[in-house]
Amino acid sequence: MKVLVTGGLGFIGSHTVVELLEKDYDVIVIDNLYNSELAVKDKIKQITGKEVKVYTDDLLDKQAVDKIFVENDIDEVIHFAGYKAVGESVRKPLMYYHNNLMSTINLLEVMKEHNVKKFVFSSSATIYGDPGNPKYVETMGRGKTTSPYGTTKCMIEQILEDLYVSDNEWSISLLRYFNPIGAHESGLIGEKPNGIPNNLMPYILKVASGELEILNIFGNDYNTPDGTCIRDYIHVVDLAKGHVCALDKLENSASGVYVYNLGSGKGYSVLEIVNTFERVNGVKVNHQIAPRRAGDLAEFFADPTKALNELKWKTEKTLEDMCRDSWNFMKKEIE
Ligand code: UFG
Repeated sequence: MKVLVTGGLGFIGSHTVVELLEKDYDVIVIDNLYNSELAVKDKIKQITGKEVKVYTDDLLDKQAVDKIFVENDIDEVIHFAGYKAVGESVRKPLMYYHNNLMSTINLLEVMKEHNVKKFVFSSSATIYGDPGNPKYVETMGRGKTTSPYGTTKCMIEQILEDLYVSDNEWSISLLRYFNPIGAHESGLIGEKPNGIPNNLMPYILKVASGELEILNIFGNDYNTPDGTCIRDYIHVVDLAKGHVCALDKLENSASGVYVYNLGSGKGYSVLEIVNTFERVNGVKVNHQIAPRRAGDLAEFFADPTKALNELKWKTEKTLEDMCRDSWNFMKKEIE
């Protein structure tokens, strides 16, 4: 099978490309390098021994996207590309709506023209909003999101559902990620955020490496055992494998829209992450308690039962693996 992976040189995209190549998929990547670099293509080759064809076009350029479908006999698409910084999306909503929605619509239109109708979408747990129960299950449906970034994920899910209603030949998988961290165990690929990171693990890495001085822990007065927020962290390699399972499901099932949580089902607090990181890696992470961050929920984690039952997928890596692999990648980067 020939798969087009959009954003295939980014954090989750690159790990998914590796897993697809390991399963002998033929992989084509489109990535405009907005939040990634071409060197990742060579790293993927180093890990897998296989070559991927990379187009550095932008999904907003519909003609360029069409050319990719003309030149390659694509069977299915995994769509990662998009802006993803929650805070930035609050400041620049139009930029987020324009980019994330228009690029997806262009891609779907070109797919339709070429009669390619298998699609896996990179969605997020953020679409649940605040359902009043920290254990998120797919039957809860979409809630009120707290950022334009999250709203683009909701809107695209809706667009895909509408598309299926209009044409029952589509097979669509909506994968709702929890908090992806970690890196490939080779240390060759991982997360490289531009500028000062917003997310917890990238920030920890920069404090541990001495690039940033101190980690602010946003609030220790939440209604959780140690007062800090609880999230369901998932190793990016487990997450990548979930995409291969989702594709496999689309290839072997009736058409339709399939929705899955991809998380471990277990939550860890911010302090547990910091303490585990320090213990496993033998490094210090300077930290202090700071005020709460606007929009943060005290706790949420996945109910991953549906993915287990229907995709035969579950997370295999531990929090120790996530902390070790994240640091291993960072160490190689700063060597
Ligand atoms: N945190 C800190 N200090 C930091 C950064 C984060 O204490 O410097 C805390 C946050 O307050 C939160 C936890 O670490 O309690 C995790 O924060 P992240 O920013 O890493 O992740 P979020 O859970 O806020 O965001 C994630 C994804 C988003 C998604 C969102 C909601 O990154 O894409 O979940 O599902 F929208």
